[in-house]
Amino acid sequence: MHGPDIASAWVQRFAPLIARDANVLDVACGNGRHARLFARRGCVVDAVDRDPACGELLADEPNVRFLAADLEEGPWPYAGRRFDAIVVANYLHRPLFPQLVASLADGGVLIYETFAAGNERYGRPSNPDFLLKPRELLDAFGVQLHVLAFEDGVVDAPRPARIQRLCGVRASADAHERLRLDAAD
Ligand SMILES: C[S@@+](CC[C@H](N)C(=O)[O-])C[C@H]1O[C@@H](n2cnc3c(N)ncnc32)[C@H](O)[C@@H]1O
Repeated sequence: MHGPDIASAWVQRFAPLIARDANVLDVACGNGRHARLFARRGCVVDAVDRDPACGELLADEPNVRFLAADLEEGPWPYAGRRFDAIVVANYLHRPLFPQLVASLADGGVLIYETFAAGNERYGRPSNPDFLLKPRELLDAFGVQLHVLAFEDGVVDAPRPARIQRLCGVRASADAHERLRLDAAD
């Protein structure tokens, strides 16, 4: 299975902004560490991965609905759905960026973290196709989302890596007025 079980510090940092009854999408969920984090906070979570084994790992979580789907082949499986939060961690498929924004409800939060150019010094992924370019998340989402935080640098934990991470909110003028930077509950 993929990655450690502990939720990313970036996702944990922004999780309190998501209401406990929110509907959350975990994209390329892997072992489901983030799906579990939100499900255990009371959220209803959709989790998608192309590996059906990920669904078996999440079968004991009643608040998680798993879908096995290849996000790089075929249509976006959540067309027409709107989520209060979308989490993407350690996964990059650039053509999905517009779908991610379109799938956020008004006031919905995107929490994104993955490897960035320079990570080849620390290990895999080292293929430039899977590494974000400098400012790439900011340039991709900064126009349509209200960016709460953006970082690009080296971390030591859970292992040394160069990562880029963004948290942004899809906010109409009304939602913008109500934006909170502290816990939603
Ligand atoms: C490095 S893991 C990250 C898992 C999880 N997001 C996390 O941070 O723990 C990448 C995940 O992306 C999934 N994945 C890769 N290509 C995919 C695709 N085309 N469609 C759906 N999932 C895919 C893999 O099966 C794997 O579970």
